[in-house]
This record gives sequence, structure tokens and C-alpha cells, in this order.
Amino acid sequence: MTSFTVNGMPLHYKLDMHTPLLWALRDASNLTGTKYGCGTGQCGACTVHIDGVAQRSCQVPIGSIEGTFVTTIEGLSGDRSHPVQQAWAEENVPQCGYCQSGMIMAAAALLAKVKDPTDDEIDQAITNLCRCGTYPRVRRAIHAAAR
Ligand code: FES
Repeated sequence: MTSFTVNGMPLHYKLDMHTPLLWALRDASNLTGTKYGCGTGQCGACTVHIDGVAQRSCQVPIGSIEGTFVTTIEGLSGDRSHPVQQAWAEENVPQCGYCQSGMIMAAAALLAKVKDPTDDEIDQAITNLCRCGTYPRVRRAIHAAAR
């Protein structure tokens, strides 16, 4: 068994320690906002925060994160939308939307670390893939959220 906190709730998982966090979240905890894209750490659709750092949950065995604090898209905001989510809505960022929860989690982690990132800092930090090509709107929304 391994235990860690997800969106403020202490959880205990009786799963194989090698189970990727992505599947523990989606299948055992029904937190389906975290998406499966590639399963190989390339696309970023599965991005969550572990102790505040953006991580690709398909690459994180649950046995390696005992005692950590995990935040998923469902836990990013409290009663009101997170500023990144507000900016995403204002800039109409999503097209199909599939990759966007991972994008938002990556953006929120960046802004928690760098208050007003440059375009270069955004491009280096947000390596998530979007097949709809929403990258220019993602960048605009991050600048808007930084204001
Ligand atoms: Fe994890 Fe693509 S599903 S990086």
C-alpha cells in the first residue's frame, strides 16, 4: 500500500507500486480530468503537480511518491476558477480540448515559479503537445494570467 495526498485528501492505494500515477488517479480515484495521450512521457496530457512541480503522471510509479501532495486539474482551484483557467476561458484557448488540462497544469506550475514569464520561458516550460495547434493562444493566456 502507498499513501499520498490528492487534492487535499489523504488517499491509500492498494495497487502495484509500479502502477503509473495516471492510472491510479483515473481508474482508482475517478479523477478523469488527467488525460492519457501517449503513455511515454512525450505529450504532457497527463500533467499533474507533485509537491507543486509539474510532472507527467504516466511516468511516475505510485511507489515513488509516498507522502507527497498531488494536485490534479480537479483540485487546481478552490471555489473560483484558478487565474490560469480564467485566462484560458477569456482567450478561448481550447479547440478539441483533450490536452488542455495538462496544458493548464503546466502553465499554473510555471506561473507559480515565474511570475511574469517571457515567451522564451513559456516555450521552454510548456513542452506539452497540442494537435490542434493552440500554442499561440496558450502563450497569450499565460501572459494574461500573469497580469
Ligand atoms: Fe503522459 Fe503523454 S500520456 S506524457
